[in-house]
Amino acid sequence: MLAPLLEARNLKKTFSAPGGAFAIGAASGVPAVDGVSLELAAGETLAIVGESGSGKTTLARMLLRLIEPDSGELLVEGRDFLAARGSQLRALRREMQMVFQDPFASLDPRMRVGSIVGEPLEIHEPNLARAARRARVVEVLRAVGLAEDALARYPHEFSGGQRQRIGIARALVLRPRLVVADEPVSALDVSVGAQILELLQNLQRDFALTYLLISHSLPVVAQLATRIAVMQGGRIVETGAASQILNAPAHPYTQSLIAAIPALPAS
Ligand SMILES: Nc1ncnc2c1ncn2[C@@H]1O[C@H](COP(=O)(O)OP(=O)(O)OP(=O)(O)O)[C@@H](O)[C@H]1O
Ligand SMILES: [Mg+2]
Repeated sequence: MLAPLLEARNLKKTFSAPGGAFAIGAASGVPAVDGVSLELAAGETLAIVGESGSGKTTLARMLLRLIEPDSGELLVEGRDFLAARGSQLRALRREMQMVFQDPFASLDPRMRVGSIVGEPLEIHEPNLARAARRARVVEVLRAVGLAEDALARYPHEFSGGQRQRIGIARALVLRPRLVVADEPVSALDVSVGAQILELLQNLQRDFALTYLLISHSLPVVAQLATRIAVMQGGRIVETGAASQILNAPAHPYTQSLIAAIPALPAS
């Protein structure tokens, strides 16, 4: 059997309280992530669901090593990710990219779309010729449904949904294997969000992507998730196949999330 693409074992993270120097003892902070273990198999979509403050973003940032855990283990295809340094760390990092919640805040307003999407290539493939880089950027823009004329334009010239497409293009230009999407549609109108979710679904098929999808909303993840992990207070309280979590939730907290979904009017 192949090792999981990504495996976390007992990850913990506590942020020091504001005015930390005056806090009494190391245990004074409440853990943001409190002993999370999970496996992510190649090709699947694992959704992390939970209320605001439950630790979803902190967990995601640790999985990508954007922040370091206080303790725990992180394995990429069975290899120790936390021990990776230098060129090995850079190589692993480019395989894992993030799509952010807010397509207004996450794109540099002073940069043209061509530079925004091409920047990761400049950093990770500096020897790529200008024309080849441009071709890669145009290719990935097309893949997310944007035309070549987007290259010379600025983020403010685009709608929210289009900006999220630009953010997705930037995440995909290095051809990663894993994409972490943290609330990718919560800043968008429902109908625009639905189009973005459909795009993510198509891109997963076309580029053989593995997704970690983070959302506070079960209806949002229902469309894409193969498995769902439910987080509360820094812990995973329930995890299972998406159909099982949605149709037969076992944990009271999951049941309360399902109960909170407004029913569709009967047709
Ligand atoms: N950089 C930080 N410094 C201090 N505390 C933090 C920091 N980041 C997160 N926290 C705290 O950690 C806890 C978990 O936050 P996190 O952002 O991971 O939750 P979340 O589930 O992503 O919430 P949301 O749905 O609102 O995005 C919260 O109590 C938050 O205040
Ligand atoms: Mg968050």
